[in-house]
Amino acid sequence: MFALGHRADQNYPKLLVPMKKITCIADLREIASRKVPRAFFDYVCAGSYEEETLRENVDDLQKIKLRQRVLVDMSGRDLTTTALGEKISLPIALAPVALTGLQYGNGEILAAQAAHEAGIPFTLSTMSICSIEQVAEATGKPFWFQLYMMRDRGFIAELIGRAKAAGCSALVLTVDLQVLGQRHCDVRNGLSVPPELGLRNVLNMATKPAWILSMLKSKSRTFGNLAGHVKGMEDVKSLAEWTATQFDQALSWNDIEWVKGQWPGKLILKGILDVQDAKLAVKSGADAIVVSNHGGRQLDGAASSISILPGIVDAVGSEIETMFDGGIRTGMDIMRALALGAKICLVGRSYAWGVGAGGKAGAARAIDVLAKELDVTMALCGYKRVVDVDREAVEVFQSSRTA
Ligand SMILES: Cc1cc2nc3c(=O)[nH]c(=O)nc-3n(C[C@H](O)[C@H](O)[C@H](O)COP(=O)(O)O)c2cc1C
Repeated sequence: MFALGHRADQNYPKLLVPMKKITCIADLREIASRKVPRAFFDYVCAGSYEEETLRENVDDLQKIKLRQRVLVDMSGRDLTTTALGEKISLPIALAPVALTGLQYGNGEILAAQAAHEAGIPFTLSTMSICSIEQVAEATGKPFWFQLYMMRDRGFIAELIGRAKAAGCSALVLTVDLQVLGQRHCDVRNGLSVPPELGLRNVLNMATKPAWILSMLKSKSRTFGNLAGHVKGMEDVKSLAEWTATQFDQALSWNDIEWVKGQWPGKLILKGILDVQDAKLAVKSGADAIVVSNHGGRQLDGAASSISILPGIVDAVGSEIETMFDGGIRTGMDIMRALALGAKICLVGRSYAWGVGAGGKAGAARAIDVLAKELDVTMALCGYKRVVDVDREAVEVFQSSRTA
């Protein structure tokens, strides 16, 4: 797979360079910015409102200083760990990212394949372009399915049934999106309800030949999990309108029991950002939580995920598996989150840019970059095994809140 070269410090300007010459996630982002139509690229990058939380997710991770240790035997390192009792090759899972199939044709299938080849979980969003069945058929491997609760419980029961039938190994129930935080660029770009892309965006798409080619090969160009399953609604416009009226604003802890009745398998609650809520999650009987603020796309002004993580781990860490997301752009970030108690990190934008930059090869490159950076970081911090990483790996960290 080849991508457009761009860095001033390399000798590849305007040449097609192999994926392996891409050195970091920022490279993938840069390439995606050229290859993906503007509206869809902006959709991935954006946060809600003033993007304070989006920025803090990244900045607060960088403020945590790693402890360099020397003359420690660091040979034979091991990055394997477990998630929900399953062995995985890296402490990473691909987060649910809506519309990945608009970053590159069949984006969800390609990302799932890259994740499976790397030995890590892939999470399919409710709002994906490729459907549950298409991903299952193309990968032949279990994946996690992310659920947005909607008011039409009949539809949700059916959707959960489809995830079961497809062999999904965990249900990720997202609990921080009962109302939608606004992303200004999406409104400007016409990625609103109903979608109105307008001439400017259509002309911009026409300048992205590789993207057009990939979309021509795509198995789906609408919301794959909804089309054909919502009565009388097939086109993107009506499905988007239907969905917008469906997010269940009355959703409460009482509904978790109903979900568990439909889904007897492993349940992950995604979008916990408060110690009290983490304790309620334990009580609800969920198997895991993801400490997350939806990548800064929902409550703007909320604390960064990393600043909340240690307090939650201290409060419930022994009772529930605590996963983390928000701002992971490097393997060093993963090390920081593991040090503060995350079992694994979910990665959102970092792999979505990979998909935009080069489909499956781009997603694989994103995973590989993060794995290699984590490996080197672990070594330089004096750890051989990722499962041994603990708070000793970072200089004293002051959490914004304690349990
Ligand atoms: C473009 C985009 C779409 C997303 N779609 C979903 C979604 O459909 N369901 C969900 O639970 N989270 C969704 N998220 C949030 C991610 O799962 C994850 O929480 C977030 O991206 C983590 O932050 P990061 O991008 O800094 O890694 C989305 C994030 C992005 C960037």
